[in-house]
Amino acid sequence: MQKLRDIVTERSNRLGRPFYANVTTFGCQMNAKDSEKLLGILEEAGFTPSEKEASDFVIYNTCTVRDNANQRVYGRLGYLNSLKQKNPDMIIALCGCMMQEPSVVEKIKKSYRFVDLIFGTHNIFKLAELLYRQMTERHMIVDIWDGTDEIVEKLPAERKYSFKSGVNIMYGCNNFCSYCIVPYVRGRERSRSPEDIVDEVKNLVKDGVVEVMLLGQNVNSYGKTLNPPMSFAELLKRVADVEGLERIRFMTSHPKDLSDELIRVMRDCPKVCRHLHLPLQSGSSRILSQMNRVYGKEQYLALAEKIKTEIPDISLTTDIIVGFPGETEDDFQETLDVVRKVRYDSAFTFLYSKRTGTPAAAMENQVPEEIMKDRFDRLLKEVQRISAEVSGKDVGKVMPALVEGLDDHNPGMVTGRLSNNIMVHFPGEASDIGRIIPVKLEESRGFYYMGTRLP
Ligand code: SAH
Ligand code: SF4
Ligand code: F3S
Repeated sequence: MQKLRDIVTERSNRLGRPFYANVTTFGCQMNAKDSEKLLGILEEAGFTPSEKEASDFVIYNTCTVRDNANQRVYGRLGYLNSLKQKNPDMIIALCGCMMQEPSVVEKIKKSYRFVDLIFGTHNIFKLAELLYRQMTERHMIVDIWDGTDEIVEKLPAERKYSFKSGVNIMYGCNNFCSYCIVPYVRGRERSRSPEDIVDEVKNLVKDGVVEVMLLGQNVNSYGKTLNPPMSFAELLKRVADVEGLERIRFMTSHPKDLSDELIRVMRDCPKVCRHLHLPLQSGSSRILSQMNRVYGKEQYLALAEKIKTEIPDISLTTDIIVGFPGETEDDFQETLDVVRKVRYDSAFTFLYSKRTGTPAAAMENQVPEEIMKDRFDRLLKEVQRISAEVSGKDVGKVMPALVEGLDDHNPGMVTGRLSNNIMVHFPGEASDIGRIIPVKLEESRGFYYMGTRLP
């Protein structure tokens, strides 16, 4: 680190200006969290963070969950190359999930030779060392690890928001849903110790954070491999005990092991937000079994019903994939049926994307593109129709909102997030950012509310 600092200082002195670094994130909250760590390391090394990709050092933290994520990266690399032609000293790095795929790294080595540094998801804590090597040896450095058992604690992090933060509680995934590449690029499931998690949360709170989002690919299997084992519900209670912390969210819950204990803790603990993201993926039990999701349609519906009964003000959201291999119109109708029965507040809908190396990629009966797109459009319409009906149900109520920023479109207004994850716009100013303010929801505008503030 010190050696890297020295060259960064030397470069910056020579240029007579700060040495800028940009971290651009593709993908999910895990990647966003990793990016904060990368930026933390870069700041410690003397870089000045920049929002612009026209910086001295640019790193793309990539995602490979669907092919369009990969295509976006390749497209943007062309743009980076044009920037580098104007500034030949620019250093370009790639990391993240896409880099864990050998075919991607081969392609970059061959066709994107202007890239200077490549590493993966398991060794981000090595950034300073790798960058130092690149800056002294000046050739393409590639360092990808197949996996790791290690959890590196206490990395610096440059947080994007002063008042809220993601907190990793586990890494990797062991579920191997048959369509999904995440277990291959993020490795085996590893839980952090509850002490490390609670310590991190306490430090964040000292630093002004009021809301944390506990992050894991399947938080419901948290702690199974710890010694002694610990349930996610128990962890949630421990985190809720941190004084000064106001709100807790978590992502993502796999329906297969969502316990009654968790529902109770959510119900009884006011700090736990009234929002549950419960990915459905498909409403057809036959397809769910092919997907290796380990639950069926009826089981999912019963679970959703139980949650709504216990926590009536909960907002349920989901992920749905359309066009999984072998999906018939009947299967698709089952998905629509679940959507109509659960009535999600919102849903992310995805076209199935074939990921090389996953079991589903080798399945016969891949669904033709036109059929997939037609189903996708019909699903989206249904999801939007229902969410327009559902949202707005709280008009007239007073609810606390965490102010996240100024409303870009309306001067004199701020944007806040309700416990149920729905946004509300109301009068306010920059000094409100990070505060929790009671707001009367006056009017629904489809996916958000307009409100007035109470004293
Ligand atoms: N661990 C989380 C999901 C992470 S990926 C969970 O299990 O809920 C986020 C979403 O991307 C998934 O829920 C799924 O809906 C979607 N997804 C994953 N692989 C996909 C693929 N091959 N094609 C289309 N969508 C996919
Ligand atoms: Fe992918 Fe399934 Fe793991 Fe989620 S639980 S990351 S969908 S394999
Ligand atoms: Fe993408 Fe990796 Fe997240 S593949 S969805 S960034 S875990």
